[in-house]
Amino acid sequence: MRLATPAGFATEVFLLEGPDAALLPEGPWTLVGDQRLRAAWAQAGMPEPEHALWVSVPEEEKRLGTVIPWLEHWARVPLHRDATVVALGGGVLSDLTGLAAALFLRGVAWQVWPTTLLAMADASLGGKTGADLEAGKNLVGAFHAPRRLVACTDLLESLPGRQLDNGRWELIKTALIQGEMDWALDMLREGPIKLPWVERALAFKAGVVHRDPRESGERRLLNLGHTLGHALEAASGYQLLHGEAVGMGLAAACFLAEEQGLKPFPDEVLGALARRLAPLAHLAAPWEACLPLLARDKKAERGPGQGAGQGVGQGAGPAGTAIQIHCILPRPGESAVQRVLPPQAWESSHARLLSLLHQEGVRA
Ligand SMILES: NC(=O)c1ccc[n+]([C@@H]2O[C@H](COP(=O)([O-])OP(=O)(O)OC[C@H]3O[C@@H](n4cnc5c(N)ncnc54)[C@H](O)[C@@H]3O)[C@@H](O)[C@H]2O)c1
Repeated sequence: MRLATPAGFATEVFLLEGPDAALLPEGPWTLVGDQRLRAAWAQAGMPEPEHALWVSVPEEEKRLGTVIPWLEHWARVPLHRDATVVALGGGVLSDLTGLAAALFLRGVAWQVWPTTLLAMADASLGGKTGADLEAGKNLVGAFHAPRRLVACTDLLESLPGRQLDNGRWELIKTALIQGEMDWALDMLREGPIKLPWVERALAFKAGVVHRDPRESGERRLLNLGHTLGHALEAASGYQLLHGEAVGMGLAAACFLAEEQGLKPFPDEVLGALARRLAPLAHLAAPWEACLPLLARDKKAERGPGQGAGQGVGQGAGPAGTAIQIHCILPRPGESAVQRVLPPQAWESSHARLLSLLHQEGVRA
């Protein structure tokens, strides 16, 4: 099934059960695939180009250095400007392959065939490619939209349950951005992932990134749950998976929204969030570990402020400036809103999150 996308959208989006070779590039192409998928790809009758690279790239190796041998390989083959690179894997592999495609010969076309739920529901769409630096995640990259996204749900069969749950949080995020409490509750319950959820999330993201490709306005809403989420993820030493950390960030964002005077969330939704997150409570870092990470957020800004008397760890920059971060606040029944707040604004919602998770953990 080809999903409807806005007129002129850079990426054709397909959602299928099994892979279909007819959707591979028509001209010359090569592949960078996760080696875990090699057998499944062959079993599905999919062709393997002569110079394919089958790799295994953990998040710790999502570095520029990882793609240099790929670029050298393509130059030796050689791959020409008319070639298309196909990425087959999760978000780490697709972010790196997209980046390599953006760099090679100053940009060759690429397709993405995501194989994790997180990559299907989020990472593959929107044209963001990237690698991590010592100083933080995704600090280097390029906007380079894939020509085609082909999400095949059969490829998720081998994905471990924790990775599936990880992707489920990005779907739940989409429902909360839109204020769709019933949809969020449906996804928070136990039960299998449903294809229409993925379809709905992709359609929503396609609309947002088409209207705001460079994240100067509406696209920032997609960061719901990511502000505190990124800090919790890093503070856990990456023991928390990205989606799990975003799940905690979503719950904290609900609390912060309430503290900022927005509409309270139904107890049913907060209870369902807590039940899903409680098994991860032991990985939620204390506030003191999160604050410096929040202040270093990629999207942080320095604005006029108190300066003197506040240390960096307290969320302040050089004298005369105070750090402000973009925060996305969800609202039941309505679209989320954006607010610029100091990192300290998250302290009480972080405390409420931890207390809720521990209470729920005791009850479970
Ligand atoms: N570009 C974007 O807009 C965007 C958005 C969100 C996240 N991301 C990035 O995505 C990355 C996380 O992606 P992820 O959650 O897909 O993790 P991942 O790519 O690390 O994959 C998780 C694990 O699952 C394995 N795997 C992949 N598919 C499998 C399958 N079908 N069966 C069995 N194992 C499989 C991988 O080898 C890996 O070990 C992060 O680096 C994040 O920054 C990018």
